Amino acid sequence: MQRTLVLLKPDCVQRRLMGEVISRFEAKGLEIVAMKMIRITPELSRQHYAEHVEKPFYRGLEAFITSAPVLAMAIEGLEVIRVVREMLGATSGLKAAAGTIRGDYSSSRQMNLVHASDGEEAASRELKLYFSEEEFCEFDSVMTPFMR
Ligand code: TYD
Ligand code: MG
Repeated sequence: MQRTLVLLKPDCVQRRLMGEVISRFEAKGLEIVAMKMIRITPELSRQHYAEHVEKPFYRGLEAFITSAPVLAMAIEGLEVIRVVREMLGATSGLKAAAGTIRGDYSSSRQMNLVHASDGEEAASRELKLYFSEEEFCEFDSVMTPFMR
């Protein structure tokens, strides 16, 4: 089992697409084990996007990600890090395939609706930025025994 950090970004919240996106993760059978709305500060943005801080697009990215609340979620499942990245599609909404979340709802490189950790190391680092251990709510669904 893996856990990944997913953020529904300010554009997703403001466009009232949270339900649509959450529905896709639920329909896929993934388990949301933690969830909260927060306003990302410039400091948290720099930690979250540490690998991008020096890049030319970072200024705009920070302005965007701090512009309105985000919904932070921890999602659990088998191979969930890769599965969620595939559900999101390519980084730019202009390039993401139809049928992916970004491909279906975004036409922007920056405002691409959803963030998800891109590997095991990133997932464990990013989950710690948003959640403490007590905030994870494990639950066994009727499907759990068949998913392992
Ligand atoms: P990145 O980690 O490369 O993409 P992903 O979100 O798919 O892991 O980039 C982080 C975010 O930065 C990305 O979601 C959108 C924004 N971004 C830009 O605004 N311009 C760019 O040229 C790139 C590469 C990313
Ligand atoms: Mg990334």
